[in-house]
Amino acid sequence: MKKIGVLTGGGDCPGLNAAIRAVVRKADALNYAIVGLKRGWKGLMEMDAFELDVGAVSGILPKGGTILGTSRTNPYKSKEDADLAKRNFEELGLDALVAIGGEDTLGAAAKLAKDGYPVVGIPKTIDCDIWGTEATIGFDTATNIISNAIDRLHTTAESHDRAMVVEVMGRHAGWLALRSGLAGGADLILIPERPVNFSDVVSVIKKRHEKGKNFSICVIAEGAKVDFDPLDGEDAKLVVKSAEKDEFGHVALGGIGAMVSDHLKRETGFDTRYTSLGHVQRGGTPTAYDRFLASNFGVRAVELISEGKSGRMVCLSHGAFSDIPIENVLGKLRYVPKWEYEVAEVFFG
Ligand code: F6P
Repeated sequence: MKKIGVLTGGGDCPGLNAAIRAVVRKADALNYAIVGLKRGWKGLMEMDAFELDVGAVSGILPKGGTILGTSRTNPYKSKEDADLAKRNFEELGLDALVAIGGEDTLGAAAKLAKDGYPVVGIPKTIDCDIWGTEATIGFDTATNIISNAIDRLHTTAESHDRAMVVEVMGRHAGWLALRSGLAGGADLILIPERPVNFSDVVSVIKKRHEKGKNFSICVIAEGAKVDFDPLDGEDAKLVVKSAEKDEFGHVALGGIGAMVSDHLKRETGFDTRYTSLGHVQRGGTPTAYDRFLASNFGVRAVELISEGKSGRMVCLSHGAFSDIPIENVLGKLRYVPKWEYEVAEVFFG
């Protein structure tokens, strides 16, 4: 009997459990045994694994988070770690592994596959910035959570004649800010792909208020770059919450929304408030679309294994489910195209 491992790595998001359930259900139908590795690659490093059967995944479809737990452990942090990960892969008797994660988890999966260990990847991230796939698990739910929050901010902004600044996730790419901002009727959206001068922010918001609107909503991705002093010769930098790096070398972002809010108040005199949606964006029950996506990704991942394929990532491409080599995905990201930002711009001000 073939034995398949499954893990979830990186930040959690709604829809992970739907993917785990799909992997287990499809694997069970093919008569494979499944083990769940706990807390991402940490579970492989520490041989923290448990048997998963159909009963164990019953009822988890609508649940947020991940029943497997997650971490940002990097099994390729050092040669010793990588050797241990490979030894444990064998020790656990795995014939293949399904790694559900973002760019970092998939990067480690690609390395493991390259080293001869059968691995298939499933893309998840609320940021939706993984190259080679139009959709990632979690993005649709997060977009809905944010646009609902923007609706709520609208009513309070209007009642108080306020400018509301909302900071959302989106480290390298502005998909969340753009799509939820468009859906929520934002008056300005700032994304990492389009660095701006602060004077442009002021002018959009001022013009809107001059037109007779007494409130405004500005949605800002955490990775957006705003140049507050274009004359100092320095480019705008990322605003960092903590310089401490995780095992993949990422610092924690956050704070650009508060900075824009403070400057806006000073510059315009408008009553301005700032909201950061933080991890609320990643919590709770997945939308129907994320359940659909995760179920398809999970089933397809096990099909790939049954076809003897490794080093592949399942994806949605031109509206169809497919798969591509994971290594094609590495070192690249999927960014918001100019045309999509230009559509959102029509509604600015
Ligand atoms: O990778 C997804 C993401 O949501 C990023 O947008 C964000 O920077 C990061 O996770 C924050 O995650 P955590 O606080 O769990 O480290």
